[in-house]
Amino acid sequence: MVRWKKIRLAVALVAVAVLATLAWTRFNTKRSAVANDTVTLAQLRGADAAAVARGAYVMRTGDCMACHSAGQGEFAGGYNIDTPFGRIVSSNITPDPETGIGGMTEREFFNAVRHGQGSKGLLYPAMPYTAYQRLTDQDMHDLWAYMSTVAPVHNEIEETAGLGFPFNIRLVMAGWNLLFFDNRPFTPTPGLSIEQTRGQYLVDGGTHCAACHSPRNLLGAESGKGYMQGGNLGLWYAPDLTPNPHTGLGGASEDSVVEYLRTGSNGVAVATGPMAEAVEHSFQHLEESDIRSIARYLQTLPASPGTRPKAIAQDTPAMQRGALRYEVNCSACHGVRGEGMGGMTAAFAGNRSLQSDDATSLMHVMLVGGRAAATEAKPTGAGMPSFAWKMSDRQIAETLDYIRNSWGNAAKPVDEAEVARLRSVLSARDQLPAN
Ligand code: HEC
Ligand code: HEC
Ligand code: HEC
Repeated sequence: MVRWKKIRLAVALVAVAVLATLAWTRFNTKRSAVANDTVTLAQLRGADAAAVARGAYVMRTGDCMACHSAGQGEFAGGYNIDTPFGRIVSSNITPDPETGIGGMTEREFFNAVRHGQGSKGLLYPAMPYTAYQRLTDQDMHDLWAYMSTVAPVHNEIEETAGLGFPFNIRLVMAGWNLLFFDNRPFTPTPGLSIEQTRGQYLVDGGTHCAACHSPRNLLGAESGKGYMQGGNLGLWYAPDLTPNPHTGLGGASEDSVVEYLRTGSNGVAVATGPMAEAVEHSFQHLEESDIRSIARYLQTLPASPGTRPKAIAQDTPAMQRGALRYEVNCSACHGVRGEGMGGMTAAFAGNRSLQSDDATSLMHVMLVGGRAAATEAKPTGAGMPSFAWKMSDRQIAETLDYIRNSWGNAAKPVDEAEVARLRSVLSARDQLPAN
């Protein structure tokens, strides 16, 4: 009996030790000790001009402005992010001492951006600290210098007002961090070239591609499994970026990936939705050499396992209805042979992400329309009209099946019930009754 007691005690002690170690690694902010802890952002004056310029670039890479501005002023917060747990609002990160981060010291800023420990408690991962944890000390110092040049804006934000119980309790994030936050500096994959390593640093850190292009588990965490093999964002699908030749970038030339990221289109795919925003606010402003590093790093990833399904036969009645609808409604913009319009509208022939198993983005633009990225290089930003009023859920599914299975394409059938679900989530119009 005594022996059992001892074993139980030993097991309990080991469990406590493991938890304590885990907690220590997850919440450890030792790395922030390199930062100054005496001067607040509001007090900081005369930051070195070169550091400010480099910091502006880090900010572009991290796309901070896009998420932290919503009409009340640059970096003044108020941007809504809808998650499965409710709505979270981005913080005011201007140097205003009362409503912004003017009262933060550099060290507190490092703790927030790299460790998710903000001025009101633990941050929610809608703020991508899980990616920014990899930013180097140098990039963080520069970012801090840049933030001191931002104009203060008085704008009170209640970040968690739209979150339901118990998710509105910040301490809940302690459990999440314990389970999922891999609190570590950037560690390059061994064997990569300097350029590919720079690409990995950008992809996993600042530009946080993986935050959208990797799958997440039920608690909203990237599990590491399926890294960059495609992620469902609820209302959009961010496609596979591994070298898979069917759904990924396997068949794409490096130049075409670079062109897409810098201009929003490569003549086949056209960025829309969240990707258009990332291209407009961030990627088009990056050095071409950085964009090329990203493309080169993506080539080093293991290809995802997905294979090409058998194409749906052209002569089924549903496909013939799809063909007719395509000719009448779509061919003027997308081409009789799915060839698109020189990067203004998406081409469908040879469009890999069009053939992803997950058709959420396609259903999305069919239901509410879309707008192409408008960049300095390609300023038009052409519009895709909504077809919700004109087509039933089944007709939308059939039309998508047709473009996903013609001109050499092959993809799984689109589920009519999924179209119906998305129509209701997006509050897209009902189809007008035919008379
Ligand atoms: C995808 C959207 C998104 C991006 C991109 C983003 N943020 Fe945030 N950020 C948020 C949200 C949402 C919050 C509020 C989180 C919370 O309160 O739990 C936040 C909170 C913060 C905070 C904490 C403020 C405080 O008072 O505790 C800081 C600092 C911050 N962000 C800085 C940055 C910087 C710097 C960048 C760019 C490197 C950046 N953010 C990019 C969404 C984003
Ligand atoms: C905010 C979420 C988000 C981020 C961050 C993001 N993407 Fe995307 N990406 C998407 C979505 C959604 C699409 C699908 C867009 C569409 O259908 O037009 C997409 C499409 C793409 C495509 C087009 C694939 C094809 O052939 O059609 C490429 C390439 C791509 N992303 C690369 C990247 C890279 C590289 C990064 C980081 C530097 C990145 N994305 C960051 C959401 C994101
Ligand atoms: C007035 C011109 C126009 C018409 C008509 C049109 N489209 Fe589009 N479509 C566009 C443009 C521009 C884009 C690129 C911007 C975007 O994706 O929002 C696009 C993009 C798309 C995409 C790609 C979305 C993605 O995620 O990459 C799909 C799918 C699509 N259209 C399907 C159709 C179908 C099916 C029809 C006919 C029922 C149709 N379109 C009719 C202009 C048009």
